[in-house]
Amino acid sequence: MIAIITGATGDIGSYFVRKIVNEVDLVWAIGRRKSALDSLVERFGDKILPVITDLSDHDSVIELCKKIEGEKPEIRYLINNAGVARMAPVSDFTLDEISNMLDINDKSATLLCRACLPYMAKGSYILNVASASAFQPNPYIALYSASKAYLLSFTRSLNVENEDINCTAVCPGWVDTKMLPKKTKDGIKISYPGIVTADKVVNTALKDCHKGKDVSVCSFYYRYMMFLSKVMPHRTLMRFWAKAVRKYL
Ligand SMILES: NC(=O)c1ccc[n+]([C@@H]2O[C@H](COP(=O)([O-])OP(=O)(O)OC[C@H]3O[C@@H](n4cnc5c(N)ncnc54)[C@H](OP(=O)(O)O)[C@@H]3O)[C@@H](O)[C@H]2O)c1
Repeated sequence: MIAIITGATGDIGSYFVRKIVNEVDLVWAIGRRKSALDSLVERFGDKILPVITDLSDHDSVIELCKKIEGEKPEIRYLINNAGVARMAPVSDFTLDEISNMLDINDKSATLLCRACLPYMAKGSYILNVASASAFQPNPYIALYSASKAYLLSFTRSLNVENEDINCTAVCPGWVDTKMLPKKTKDGIKISYPGIVTADKVVNTALKDCHKGKDVSVCSFYYRYMMFLSKVMPHRTLMRFWAKAVRKYL
């Protein structure tokens, strides 16, 4: 029985590895950085199968899907956690950057879900790490936010289509990881309201998926934000958001 975890080299991903490694026989740890994958092997030994894969590269993702189809492993957990973000207006992105972000945040996760489904028994879990930014459109992280809205929508549908598999969209707000820039270029300290640690996100996500929840939000602050996104006009929320972040651009 195995777990497949993308972004296993990152702050949230490596915590998922740590929490799940004893529940399965083997973790397929997906990442790009060999040194970080080697550290996982050093720590957890032969429970880790390091799989170097660039999820922005279509052929590499298909190769990974074919490896799954070829080996037909019994998959207990698929955790699509890899992701990239950048705060900037859409006009600042190159075409390649946009394409890569959508490939990593959405396309690879979707293809991996499809490839894994046939090998997931009743009671297994798919966790797709989205974000609280999926709850509403967010200018200046427009692409990231839209990519995570896709993942939230996709995961919830998948959960209904596959009654035997628990599919959970993990939607944290700010998490203290290396993904967050500590300062802007002008030296202004960015404030991250409601920021939480990676272990809190992972612990809550695992608890929530075991309870069969299709969405996991790990703090009261962001559960309140989710509530606001349901009752307030998005136009108003976007105005507040844009005003708060413009000074960091
Ligand atoms: N930090 C936050 O505030 C926050 C909030 C909400 C949601 N999230 C989501 O949480 C997830 C994990 O992020 P994190 O905060 O733990 O950041 P992180 O430490 O920077 O981890 C990002 C992970 O994504 C992987 N990745 C990036 N590009 C890749 C590519 N082309 N191919 C394969 N893997 C790639 C990285 O692997 P390599 O380093 O090996 O390339 C790394 O393991 C992401 O989906 C993110 O959107 C984060």
